[in-house]
Amino acid sequence: MAGTDMRISVIGTGYLGAVHAACLADIGHDVLGVDVDAAKIEALAAGQAPFYEPGLSDVLSRAVGSGRLRLSIDPAQAAEFADVHFICVGTPQQPGSQAADLTYVHAAIDGLARHLRRPTLVVGKSTVPVGTAAALARRLAELAPAGEGVELAWNPEFLREGYAVADTLTPDRLVVGARSDAADEALREVYAPMLAAGVPYIRTDLATAELVKVAANAFLATKISFINAVADVCDAAGADVVRLAEAMGHDARIGRRFLGAGVGFGGGCLPKDIRAFLARARELGVADSLAFLAEVDTINTGRRRRVVELARELVGGSLHGRNVAVLGAAFKPDSDDVRDSPALAVAAAVQARGANVRVHDPAAIDNARAVFPELDYTTDVAKACERADVVLHLTEWREYRDLEPESLAKVVAHARIVDGRNVLSLERWEAANWTVAALGRGRRQG
Ligand code: UDX
Repeated sequence: MAGTDMRISVIGTGYLGAVHAACLADIGHDVLGVDVDAAKIEALAAGQAPFYEPGLSDVLSRAVGSGRLRLSIDPAQAAEFADVHFICVGTPQQPGSQAADLTYVHAAIDGLARHLRRPTLVVGKSTVPVGTAAALARRLAELAPAGEGVELAWNPEFLREGYAVADTLTPDRLVVGARSDAADEALREVYAPMLAAGVPYIRTDLATAELVKVAANAFLATKISFINAVADVCDAAGADVVRLAEAMGHDARIGRRFLGAGVGFGGGCLPKDIRAFLARARELGVADSLAFLAEVDTINTGRRRRVVELARELVGGSLHGRNVAVLGAAFKPDSDDVRDSPALAVAAAVQARGANVRVHDPAAIDNARAVFPELDYTTDVAKACERADVVLHLTEWREYRDLEPESLAKVVAHARIVDGRNVLSLERWEAANWTVAALGRGRRQG
């Protein structure tokens, strides 16, 4: 197959890197995955995904089994082996600041650079503040024995958790910030099977490539907060935000996706990316232009308080001593990720108001327990709902949509539910004598 058989290293085998490395091996490249975490490397080398991601285990075991994906903790080995190096380490929010923490990116670049003795291409995939790539390019040239022979390109990643393998193998688009034609050509070769399948490829400068990623995530976050703001108006006016979103979504210029009103967005990307974008705009002297992103953030975190409020109203004014069942801990379905999870934040807030909280999630309980050990967890929905005064539906796992309200009514103390994701059939739950509250479906409340 054209475009296969390149020797590639992937530095950082967390969420992004593990998927990227396995998929590159799957399309025929020889890949070396490198991470500082020996336990992670060991798990991957045994073909095991270190986190929940549908389809990843298959691709990973195929890649490891074929010998096309190998793993190491030694960046010197990566430098020796590969001609193209992808930097896939995380850029979390800095503690006590809104900006991105680039510690891991700097460590990965520095760790690799000093071993680069021949002309090489280093490709950043991590989400970084605009301007980072240009600075890293200078640093590489300074530190690498091969000097100016080491080039840096930027190739942001748009994968969604839960669809990471499909998003990597059949992306909506490939964006490559490349200074030279040689870098551009090398990346076209890396992605040759995708290009042959017609995936759009957009070449830009480094700064544009960095910005495409954060701008895309900021747009998605804004779309969600927009519909959540409208949901409040729906509640005040007695309108239904779900029908409204459906009607708006038929306009091809708007589209229905990301108009899901509810408890709002969370996860390892959207919240920290809008904050880091705003922090960078401030440094660049254009904070006013992105001031609306602070409002997007405020609307989003306000959703969590709104759900707590609805729960309190449903149980008659005080959560103290009440039994509350929380359905969902992950920040979204098909993921075990609880970073900035709205569901878990609500569970903790309800408990802080004196409620007895029991949390159910099909995949995220171990991760949730690590963050909030004081909450009670179960993998049995009926057990979570036993004697509950109110049920909070906060992550829209498929199995919650398929719940039978009639059977669940038999185990709870009071048949009351808050649909924090607006995906349950209100007619069906109400027909089974549940009191249902939701965000933005005004006529259902009070
Ligand atoms: C996001 C981007 O979609 C992806 O392109 C980028 O690479 C990383 O960040 P991800 O964090 O996996 O991906 O989640 P996504 O599917 O975008 O959902 C983000 C959050 O928004 C979730 O908490 C989800 O529940 C919420 N959401 C999504 C809504 O509240 N309403 C919607 O209509 C859609």
